[in-house]
Formats: sequence, C-alpha cells, structure tokens
Amino acid sequence: MFLIIKKPETEKDYEDYYALRWQILRRPWGLPRGSEKDEREETSIHLMAYTEDRIPVGVGRAHFNSKNEAQVRFMAVDPHYQNNGIGSTLLAALERRVKIDGAKYIVLNSRETAIGFYKKNGYSSEGRIFTLFDSIKHIKVRKDL
Ligand SMILES: CC(C)(COP(=O)(O)OP(=O)(O)OC[C@H]1O[C@@H](n2cnc3c(N)ncnc32)[C@H](O)[C@@H]1OP(=O)(O)O)[C@@H](O)C(=O)NCCC(=O)NCCS
Repeated sequence: MFLIIKKPETEKDYEDYYALRWQILRRPWGLPRGSEKDEREETSIHLMAYTEDRIPVGVGRAHFNSKNEAQVRFMAVDPHYQNNGIGSTLLAALERRVKIDGAKYIVLNSRETAIGFYKKNGYSSEGRIFTLFDSIKHIKVRKDL
C-alpha cells in the first residue's frame, strides 16, 4: 500500500491527528475528547500516515524519558486499514527519528491485544503486566536501537 508518513503541520492536520487517536484509543472505552492527550504533546515527535488520497489512517508519538530512553505512545491505525503494514511503517519511522536524536532504546506499554504487533517489530516483553483505564491489561516492552 502506498503511504505518506509525515509530521502533522497545520491546525487541520493536528485536528485529524488527535481525532484519530481519540476514535481508536479512547472512544471505545467511553472516554471523552481531551482524554487522548497527555502533558507531553508539546515536546513529543508526532507522525501521521496518509493514503495516497490523503486520508489520515494512522498516528504514533514518541518522547524522551531520558537522554538514552525514548518511549512510544498512542500508536493507532484506523480499523478499516489495519493489517496493511501501516502500524509497522509508522513505528519504524518513529524509531529512526528518536535514534537520530540519540535514543539507545525504546520502551512502551503495549495493550495485551497488541503485543503480537510489537513482537513482530522486534520488541521483547519485560514481563510486567498492569491495568490502565480499569480494564485494559498492558505489558511493558522494549527494543534496543
Ligand atoms: C496495533 C496496531 C497499531 C497495528 O497496526 P497495523 O497497521 O494493523 O499493523 P501492521 O499491519 O503493520 O502489522 C504488522 C504485523 O503485526 C501483526 N499484527 C498487527 N496487529 C496485531 C495484533 N493486534 N496482534 C497480533 N499481531 C498483530 C500483523 O499481522 C503483521 O504481521 P505480518 O507481518 O506477519 O503480516 C493497530 O492494530 C491498532 O491501531 N490497534 C488498535 C489500537 C491499539 O491497540 N494500539 C496499540 C496501543 S499499545
């Protein structure tokens, strides 16, 4: 599938970006608009995937926890477009970006349902399981760059 991976730039890009994040990661749990953001948005790396017709279909974010440690959060692909390699392409682009900025490894908290996706992309489980939003089990995973 032909994809465009780029940083959101305009106000409209950011509207689409956060709307997609909310629709996929928050709305199914009845969480309100606004719940899709955290306090690190201003200082994070944001990337978005578009089809060749410029339909926004995927989002992902990375930030630094320390000089060497980057963290990926809010990976989400429109359900109609999942399993087409979009998530992997976005994740690889985030990995390249944080590596350029000095990251030695990436950590992330994977939903239990997405662990297979991260394993396919070279992440290994750190074994720690915890629950967020009262019901979603998460597992900490890591990849050395
Ligand atoms: C997880 C997610 C981002 C993956 O994006 P995607 O574009 O569907 O993934 P890809 O097509 O790049 O998948 C790459 C590989 O991982 C596998 N994979 C994808 N999602 C998977 C899942 N949930 N469980 C197991 N394997 C999965 C694919 O089958 C594919 O394997 P292949 O290379 O052998 O064909 C997407 O399914 C999604 O948005 N899910 C809902 C939200 C979510 O859980 N986000 C993660 C929060 S931590």
